[in-house]
Amino acid sequence: MDLPPVGLGTMGIDDPGAVATAVSVGYRHLDTARIYDNEAVVGDGLAAGLADGDLDRGDVTVATKLWTDDLAAGAVAPAARESADRLGVDAIDLLYVHRPRGDYDPETTLPAIDRVGDDGLVRNVGVSNFEVADLDRAIEVLGRPPAAHQTELHPLFLRPELLGHAREHGYPVVAYSPLAGGRVREIDAVAAVAEAHDATPEAVAIAWAAAKEPVVTIPKASSEAHLRANLAAADLELTDAEVAAIDAVEREEELFPE
Ligand SMILES: NC(=O)c1ccc[n+]([C@@H]2O[C@H](COP(=O)([O-])OP(=O)(O)OC[C@H]3O[C@@H](n4cnc5c(N)ncnc54)[C@H](OP(=O)(O)O)[C@@H]3O)[C@@H](O)[C@H]2O)c1
Repeated sequence: MDLPPVGLGTMGIDDPGAVATAVSVGYRHLDTARIYDNEAVVGDGLAAGLADGDLDRGDVTVATKLWTDDLAAGAVAPAARESADRLGVDAIDLLYVHRPRGDYDPETTLPAIDRVGDDGLVRNVGVSNFEVADLDRAIEVLGRPPAAHQTELHPLFLRPELLGHAREHGYPVVAYSPLAGGRVREIDAVAAVAEAHDATPEAVAIAWAAAKEPVVTIPKASSEAHLRANLAAADLELTDAEVAAIDAVEREEELFPE
């Protein structure tokens, strides 16, 4: 998939106005999930943002995720239908397996999602929180790479083997919690690079992640100021030495472990 360097993470957003503002200021990738309980909020915001900007539905990629109890073969289609209805869209652009847990069985879950795709309800099948072995199995079953892999990635948590796998098989990595849930400003190496560029630590974290092939980011933001700043952060160019300094941060903080 061709995803923009910065999309909008919506976990915790309960105001359609924030989503509408995001679309109006230029966001073209919205990320939600059934488990965030805000698909209707995202759908309402999307509709308002499209109307406000005189945009077409096809201008914005809408992604959502099947939770672990949506993954039995017979549960996939109804869950996808319900998500699309809550979002108010005819088709979901990117439907992820949220985690390979619960009712997930690659042999049955992935073909079931593919069938929903054949029906036109889902345009692309993605995976999230997969390990390399899970990714390899998914590729075997699907007969192609996933459309995207959404995984945690920020200066306190980086999994080079997942980036290597994505590069090898040619699919994008969607970096979630790229601001470490708002904690990037506590990291000295990030703050130092930010000072050198007269930028914020949040902008540096986004630029650092987006500089890694094949990574795009989905920071969550609610205010117009944060939304605009995060979108602009993709234009911030870091030197190789600055990227390396942040790469060297001791990583230990997985925000969303199993
Ligand atoms: N697949 C998965 O299992 C999974 C798991 C976790 C998250 N995700 C996705 O990833 C998205 C992002 O992750 P996240 O929500 O955990 O956290 P995040 O994007 O790393 O951080 C969000 C926090 O940073 C603040 N912030 C945003 N822009 C800022 C700026 N320019 N300056 C200062 N503070 C700023 C936000 O505050 P304000 O809201 O006040 O702007 C919010 O408190 C989620 O919304 C979700 O879509 C996926």
